[in-house]
Amino acid sequence: MIVRLLSIVLLILQIHKGFASSYTDTTHYNDNPWLHALQLLQSPPLIPDVFSPNYDNHFIYIPMDYIPEIQQQSFQDFCNNKTNLWHKQLYKSLDDSSTLHNNPEATFLLSQLFLTGQYNFPWNGTLAYKYLSKFNELTNSQNSTALFQLAIMHSTGLFGEIPKDEPLSLLYLQQASSFGNLQAKQTLAYRYHNGITLPRDCHSSLLLYRQLATEIQKSYNDYEWNIHMPYTESYDVRISDFHDGLLGKGLSTMPLSTVRIPSTRPDITSSLLTQMNGGQIILQFGIGDNSGREFASENDDENSDDRLVDIFYTAFDYYKGTYDTKRDCIAAKELLTSTYKVFEADVPYMDNLQKYFYGKSLDLLGHLYFTGEAELDGKPNFQMAQNFLKLSIKIIENSSTLKSRANIDLGLIEQYVNGNITNAIEYYKKMLHSRTSDGTADFQLAMLQRENPEYKLGNYYEFLQRAFMKHHIPGAFEYSKAVELGFNDRYSCEDSSHLYKQFVEMNESILVPFLKNAYAQLILGNTQSALWFYAMAAEQGYETAQVSAGYLLYQHNYLLEQPPITTEARKRLAINYYSKAFKQNNPDAGVIAGNIYFSLHEYNNAISMYQSGSIRYSAQAAWNLGYMHEYGLGVDKDFHLAKRYYDQAVEINPRLYLGVKLSVLKLRFKSMIYWLLSENWKYQVDQQDELDKYLPWYKKIFKSFQLAGKENSWMPDDFANEHNNNININNNNNNNNNNNNNNENINEDIDSHQDQGGVANDVLDVLETYGIQLEDLITIGFVLLVLVGSVILRTIAMRRGWNVRINGIPMQPPQQQDQPQQPQGNFDIQIFAI
Ligand SMILES: *[C@@H]1O[C@H](CO)[C@@H](O)[C@H](O)[C@H]1NC(C)=O
Ligand SMILES: *[C@@H]1O[C@H](CO)[C@@H](O)[C@H](O)[C@H]1NC(C)=O
Ligand SMILES: *[C@@H]1O[C@H](CO)[C@@H](O)[C@H](O)[C@H]1NC(C)=O
Ligand SMILES: *[C@@H]1O[C@H](CO)[C@@H](O)[C@H](O)[C@H]1NC(C)=O
Ligand SMILES: *[C@@H]1O[C@H](CO)[C@@H](O)[C@H](O)[C@H]1NC(C)=O
Ligand SMILES: *[C@@H]1O[C@H](CO)[C@@H](O)[C@H](O)[C@H]1NC(C)=O
Repeated sequence: MIVRLLSIVLLILQIHKGFASSYTDTTHYNDNPWLHALQLLQSPPLIPDVFSPNYDNHFIYIPMDYIPEIQQQSFQDFCNNKTNLWHKQLYKSLDDSSTLHNNPEATFLLSQLFLTGQYNFPWNGTLAYKYLSKFNELTNSQNSTALFQLAIMHSTGLFGEIPKDEPLSLLYLQQASSFGNLQAKQTLAYRYHNGITLPRDCHSSLLLYRQLATEIQKSYNDYEWNIHMPYTESYDVRISDFHDGLLGKGLSTMPLSTVRIPSTRPDITSSLLTQMNGGQIILQFGIGDNSGREFASENDDENSDDRLVDIFYTAFDYYKGTYDTKRDCIAAKELLTSTYKVFEADVPYMDNLQKYFYGKSLDLLGHLYFTGEAELDGKPNFQMAQNFLKLSIKIIENSSTLKSRANIDLGLIEQYVNGNITNAIEYYKKMLHSRTSDGTADFQLAMLQRENPEYKLGNYYEFLQRAFMKHHIPGAFEYSKAVELGFNDRYSCEDSSHLYKQFVEMNESILVPFLKNAYAQLILGNTQSALWFYAMAAEQGYETAQVSAGYLLYQHNYLLEQPPITTEARKRLAINYYSKAFKQNNPDAGVIAGNIYFSLHEYNNAISMYQSGSIRYSAQAAWNLGYMHEYGLGVDKDFHLAKRYYDQAVEINPRLYLGVKLSVLKLRFKSMIYWLLSENWKYQVDQQDELDKYLPWYKKIFKSFQLAGKENSWMPDDFANEHNNNININNNNNNNNNNNNNNENINEDIDSHQDQGGVANDVLDVLETYGIQLEDLITIGFVLLVLVGSVILRTIAMRRGWNVRINGIPMQPPQQQDQPQQPQGNFDIQIFAI
């Protein structure tokens, strides 16, 4: 009995030693709650691994609304639920250890559990803050991880859970940075760069970014830097891009950031849309190809056509890994090897498209040998690599003018393995103007040019610039350095700092390693925990994370949807992040920032956001500006300007044609009604045209059409300018009418209208007693019009076989496959509102 007891004690001590060896404080040896917690941590509940192939529910659901009471209730529910016994016990032990024994480890762990959703703990900012502050006290503000997190907490107010405190946040950031915390340095650098809570200071920003960049550069060895960069499974994406972009399909101006979604198979009948190397590359066969080769297959057997395309993309997805599945190079290699064997003998009989994809498959196989990523020992096999890469070049380049990506790897092998620089240069030069180039060729040529100016390969600076544009990582670093040294006599602190920023942000695994976690939490439905991660990255200056954090706080609402219900603190923070993203060249984010201002009734701010957005070619921003002018929100009502903005929207995005035309039509319709009802529109009730007022209503319609036809715009420009401030709605007949017109001047010119507008206004009065406003009538009329229109359109479309899509959704199922030719006539109708 005693022996057994002793052995249990020994076991516990051992466990304790295993975990506790990292800290020196011996007062925890009688900290039993901590021991209990450690024991619990040995057998955590099963949490599904969202990245395993067996996990199949990858839908990201983000609730639109945030209601604090519901959040609190769900926290209480979690605590009261019997199935969460393990969590409750762990919480209790850790809390005891923290309160009774002042154990810093337990305190820190608690704060992290409530922040990050680890073990499926529910999010609770208040508790996380409480424990992290305590940890910071226990460690005398010496732990930079905690200092950085506290800084973020104070800067964000934890989304409304604690008071915001920018000065304190800055203090913590500076402390953490002085202890060498890289994330804190990056955050500070970003703040200096953009003047956020700090005076703008380019030199401090440059200093910090350069420090970070150099540190990152040093972390690579020569082989990685020159030959093969380790592959990162990037999670640096905007969440909104999983849902077709911030403003929805067709309206967002930003290209999607989701480069690792499973490849879509290209439409091989027309042009080839491949998603190689993260960029979208459109390969058009037949067009611009001097030989005039047609790739439209003459082969009846379309299946085998598709098969090679399919195989390549399947292998490519294995190779790059998608957001939902880990990359699997071994599977890719197996698939490609068997493809090589099966199709080898068929090459002479393949058509060009098949050859192209067969060639690409061999290229990928060669690349896998080159990097050694699919080998058990992880060692490259240059001989095999060369065989496959050369074969790929032979097949691809014999059948088209396209260049195989394989030239890059072959160049590297020649340069670094065979030591034959002449051959290497030949390979690199072939890739210079190819779209499949990832910048390696430009980078290597730049380096060769720098070391051997006598080769006269080209302009060092331009090579580097091109490498940087293609997101080549070492290329980006060297380019930043060259710019900072004032290459080409164009030194600019702003530019250098900005370039280093981009290089630094390319390394995810060291500065934002938690982005993958954030994605996992999203899939598991722990939106708040995901928000915490994205907020950290957003503060560090990542544009994608700023949009993601903004998106979790406030989503764009589509037509007929209510704007999100949420707290003011969250709205303000969302504005903050969207505006920051906007300043980093995301015009869509500016539109949403404007929408949030709009929902807060701060029309002036909304207008200025939309205005800057429309300057940057956002159709939605221009549209919204038109709307603001149409309804006189934050500006004087001005149909003329409204029409101009609507027209601008269609100029930027011609796909909005129908929607804009309808709006402009509505504008005319509305203006006509106002006029018919003898609302006192100065420009129509012209002094000289006194007679107008006594015309019967049908003549007025006629006249208005005449006017519209003559001017083809609402008002003559000079008139609009003159009377801009006088466009008033006469509300003399209905003094109780507060139809949003509070900010409009009441027109003096009252009596002359008492009898004319009488009948119509009486009707309106009656309607208004039922709570129906003129605006509603117009809208109802309009919705009816659109409905009728769409029914007619649908009928016509069915008959003629047009392809009509409304807001990106096809109106009818696609035509049957056997129909040989896609009928003409594509309509994209976008209906939206703010
Ligand atoms: C956080 O936990 C505290 C204490 O249990 C609770 O009172 C509060 O409602 C929780 N907050 C949220 C947002 O769940
Ligand atoms: C308790 O939690 C489990 C799963 O975590 C859930 O299925 C169950 O509905 C919850 N029960 C209550 C009363 O909330
Ligand atoms: C801060 O403390 C936590 C918990 O002890 C530890 O995991 C982390 O490494 C510490 N950070 C630094 C920079 O020492
Ligand atoms: C290259 O194409 C020509 C015909 O265009 C063909 O005769 C030759 O065999 C091809 N070479 C290879 C290696 O496929
Ligand atoms: C490089 O290879 C080519 C043929 O592939 C050869 O003619 C040349 O001599 C080689 N150069 C060096 C420096 O080895
Ligand atoms: C990022 O930097 C770390 C170390 O600083 C390095 O190990 C890692 O390979 C880098 N990864 C990428 C993709 O840059």
